[in-house]
Amino acid sequence: AEGGHIEDIDFSFEGPFGSFDQHQLQRGLQVYQEVCSACHGIRQVYFRNLGDPGGPQMSEEQVRAFTALYEVEDKETGDTRPATLSDHFPPNTGAGAPDLSLMAKSRAGFHGPAGTGINQLINGIGGPEYIHAILTGYTGEEKEEAGATFYENHAFPSGWIKMPPPLMDDAVTYIDGHPADVDHMAEDVAAFLMWTAEPKMMARKEAGMTAVIFLGAFAVLLYLTNKKIWARVK
Ligand code: HEM
Repeated sequence: AEGGHIEDIDFSFEGPFGSFDQHQLQRGLQVYQEVCSACHGIRQVYFRNLGDPGGPQMSEEQVRAFTALYEVEDKETGDTRPATLSDHFPPNTGAGAPDLSLMAKSRAGFHGPAGTGINQLINGIGGPEYIHAILTGYTGEEKEEAGATFYENHAFPSGWIKMPPPLMDDAVTYIDGHPADVDHMAEDVAAFLMWTAEPKMMARKEAGMTAVIFLGAFAVLLYLTNKKIWARVK
C-alpha cells in the first residue's frame, strides 16, 4: 500500500478573505457527534464555543439543547453529571484514538518540495485536506498484524491505518438537505475540525486585514510627507 496521497480542496475559509461557512461547521459537528465521537474526543472545545461568533454560531437555545445530550465527569466530585455550557466536550480514549481538537493543525497535507515551502504557501498546510483524505482514502483491503486489524488507506502515511472506515454514504441525515455521501461528510467534518483547531481564525484574518489597510494608508501618507519635506532639495 502506498500512503500520503492528499487532494487539495477549496475550503470556504482559505485565503485572506475566506471565512468559515457556519452551516458547514454545523453539519461537521453533526458528523463528529454521530460518528467520530464514538472513538475520538475534542476535549479542548467548550460547549459554549458552539455559539461563538466566527464558529458554528448556534443560537443559545441550540447550544443548550446540544449540551444537554452530554454527561461529563465533575472534576471536583468525580461524579458524572449533566454537562453545562462551561464544560469541555468529554475526552474519549477507550478505542486508542487520538483527540481531534487540534488534529487539523498537527497534520500536514502538503509538503514543500525540498523545503522551499512554495507548495504550502499556495495550498496551505493542508490539515483539513489530510483529514478529508484519510476519511475518503480507504481501499476496502484489510489485514491482521500483531493481533490488530489494519485498513488500507491511500492518505495515511504508512498506507495502513488502525481506524476502521468510519463513514458510509448517508451515515447521517443533514437537516439542511445537503448531500450526505462520504465525500461531503468528510469535507464538512474536516472544516469543523479546522474550526476546533483554530476557533479564532476569523478574528485573526480581520485583524490582519485591518493592519494591512492601515499600513497601506500610512505608507501613502509617509510618502507624501517625505515629498513635501524634501521638496526644496532637488
Ligand atoms: C485516527 C479522524 C472516526 C478510531 C484518526 C485520525 C484522524 C481521524 C484524523 C488520525 C490519523 C493520524 O494519526 O494521522 C476521524 C474522524 C472520524 C473518525 C473525522 C469521524 C468521521 C473514528 C471511529 C473510530 C476511530 C468511529 C473507532 C471505531 C481511530 C483510531 C485511530 C484513529 C483507532 C488511530 C489509527 C492509527 O494510528 O493507526 N481518526 N476518525 N475513528 N481513529 Fe478516527
